[in-house]
Amino acid sequence: MRTKYCGNIRIIHLNKIVKLCGWVNKIRNFGQFIFIDMRDYTGLVQVIFELKNNIVFKKALTLRNEFCIQVSGIVQKREEKNKNTKMNTGEIEIVAKEINILNTSKSLPLNYTQKNNDDSRLKYRYLDLRSLNILENLKIRNKITYLIRNFMMKRNFLDIETPILTKSTPEGARDYLVPSRNHLGKFYALPQSPQLFKQMLMIGGIDRYYQIVKCFRDEDLRSDRQPEFTQIDIEVSFMNAQKVRNLIEKLVVTIWSKIINFNLIKFPKLSFYESMKKYGSDKPDLRNPIKIIDISDIFKDEKFILFFNLDSKKNNRIALLCISRGADISRKKIDAYTKYIQKFNAKKLFYIKIIESNFGCRSIYSSIKHILDEITLKKIIEKSKAKNGDILFLIADQESIVNKSLGMLRLKLGTDLNITKKNSWKPVWIVNFPMFSKDVHGNFSSVHHPFTAVKNMNIKNLNNSPELAVSDSYDLVINGYEIGGGSVRIHDVNIQRKVFDIIGIKKSVQNEKFGFLIEALKYGAPPHAGIALGLDRIVMLLTNSANIRDVIAFPKTTSATCLMTNSPSKISNSILQELAIKLLKNKC
Ligand code: AMO
Repeated sequence: MRTKYCGNIRIIHLNKIVKLCGWVNKIRNFGQFIFIDMRDYTGLVQVIFELKNNIVFKKALTLRNEFCIQVSGIVQKREEKNKNTKMNTGEIEIVAKEINILNTSKSLPLNYTQKNNDDSRLKYRYLDLRSLNILENLKIRNKITYLIRNFMMKRNFLDIETPILTKSTPEGARDYLVPSRNHLGKFYALPQSPQLFKQMLMIGGIDRYYQIVKCFRDEDLRSDRQPEFTQIDIEVSFMNAQKVRNLIEKLVVTIWSKIINFNLIKFPKLSFYESMKKYGSDKPDLRNPIKIIDISDIFKDEKFILFFNLDSKKNNRIALLCISRGADISRKKIDAYTKYIQKFNAKKLFYIKIIESNFGCRSIYSSIKHILDEITLKKIIEKSKAKNGDILFLIADQESIVNKSLGMLRLKLGTDLNITKKNSWKPVWIVNFPMFSKDVHGNFSSVHHPFTAVKNMNIKNLNNSPELAVSDSYDLVINGYEIGGGSVRIHDVNIQRKVFDIIGIKKSVQNEKFGFLIEALKYGAPPHAGIALGLDRIVMLLTNSANIRDVIAFPKTTSATCLMTNSPSKISNSILQELAIKLLKNKC
């Protein structure tokens, strides 16, 4: 039906006859001439209908936006004054000789050239997709997956599919369940990741596996989370953690350089402990140079503990952020920052403005001036390296609250004061996570998944002091987004059993849920390791999208619904009966 795509026509095609198919993007009628911008998935081109070509002109008069058309015409150079440097095809235009209206269109319920509300964008996603922005994101996504496949093929990785109807793999979220008609009362779980299957592949002797694969997690959604998302899932045998990281660095460097022509050079490593201490988070945005400075030792004295109203039975921390040239931040703004940190359960935000701190002559404005004697103040200034004109924001609370609230305040100040370097890329590996976290009742759970190897101890010590165990795991963080996570795996059945024991999975449940893994580990399971990168998050970063939805063709809302198809939807009673499922009236 066509000989060329709209967005590809250039001056080299001058005087050629072309046949195009696409949509009417915009119409301008000048009486003697009608101009339309015609669009297909390569972009726009201007088409002119001339009055002197009466039959075609008459048809053009009936055109409306989004009519689907076929146009034959001649490529002509635009007059100098009519050139449009903003369009790739801005040097030329098509003089229409024939037009065929392939389909008409109702006027659109949304104008995709403007900002629309999210609900109508998702309801009419097929129209939203016509916006060249989303299309561009999908093209970049396609280029990235092509690069990945190419990269993995060159290194002899096998792309192997794993089941979608499967059994629960614990990745920290709830499962999406699928009832079985053949086995009434039983359910499949959609995979939260192919974790156990890729381990089975290693035990099966498949040395190098990868897959670009859909994963499903029923969890609270955010701007960088979808209930179904795509992982670049990788597993290798006989490779240690450092080698896996090297491989992934090469892949990420390739993607960044080929997609945005940026050369990522350094991938520093930061321990989980250090990351929490300095940035209050295990996914620090290192484009922002502000660090959390611990001053707990300066305020050890009982009088300070009392002043800050700290519960000495709890794990407390007193820490601050030093904001260079921040002394002119107004009271109003400080009040707003106080409200902000209260969202993260911190009680108070104290401040110290350093007006002058020359030898022997120190002058400050501070909300805690009355408790700051000269020696304490000197220590704080020394530790924070504060200079005249700086402001210190200080929080004293339980350690987890201080980390979270100063970590978030650091990010907010970074944006508000333009401290965070935009247009820069800061990758970092977070390593040495603890194996387990402990809840208030003293129960352990895995920080990564429970198949992660221990780095620093043997099985005996693991049994005696699990709280000291460090895992051989790694997360890749770029600009504050966790774009990947992985680990060396347990390949010793006794350690695997021990880890299940520690996180409180009873033997019977271990056998019922993970019996196949436990059995498989007994047949010469090789040492193996792997990682999964979040494809959607990578595309989101590289397309500078604010929301993960903008890089997924058919995303879900934050409450996990699809407004276009209206899913999830009700199921008829007959089907429910066939599945032996009865709904609780008071819950549905
Ligand atoms: P993890 O749970 O860390 O590891 O997931 C790997 C990466 O997947 C991305 N991701 C998500 N992206 C969008 N929406 C979500 N809901 C979502 N959840 C996770 C993140 C994350 O870093 N099996 C292990 C990997 C392994 O050990 O090999 C796993 O799934 O970018």
